[in-house]
Amino acid sequence: MTEQKINISYQEFASIDELNAEDRELAQAAIEGMQGSYAPYSHFNVGAAVRMTNGQIVRGANQENAAFPSGLCAERTAMFAASAKYPDKEMVSIALAGGVYGRITDEPATPCGACRQVMAQYQTRAGKPMSVIMVGGKRIWKFEKVDDILPLIFDSI
Ligand code: THU
Repeated sequence: MTEQKINISYQEFASIDELNAEDRELAQAAIEGMQGSYAPYSHFNVGAAVRMTNGQIVRGANQENAAFPSGLCAERTAMFAASAKYPDKEMVSIALAGGVYGRITDEPATPCGACRQVMAQYQTRAGKPMSVIMVGGKRIWKFEKVDDILPLIFDSI
């Protein structure tokens, strides 16, 4: 038996102004994307924004439904819309932000497991790392690749 370790490193920024220009634009788009949220049940408004290899940004927001499982998270809304709009382009990065009644949380919004799995597949499809930017009012986290938030990615089929 040997003890194995998985090391994860990420960057923390004190504000959106510390991000590079492209990431700042994406983070801003995620915050603005919160306005597209339809969350009459949780009142938790999430916005997401995906940057494609052609430089285009596609936004998404969580959409809830009275039949709860029929709703969808902001990140998947954004990724599915981006893939449908630019089927021959790859995703470079994704940012997300969220908050109750549209007021952004102090801590960064972190994506659910199902959204991480979907990110993983688009990263595999792209064949290069896709960065994930989690935006909060007090700090922002940047992970260089999806593996860092979903170690031991399933992509064996
Ligand atoms: N939600 C997202 O949009 N993204 C996540 O990563 C986690 C949760 C949404 C789903 C639901 O509409 C609301 O937040 C509360 O869970």
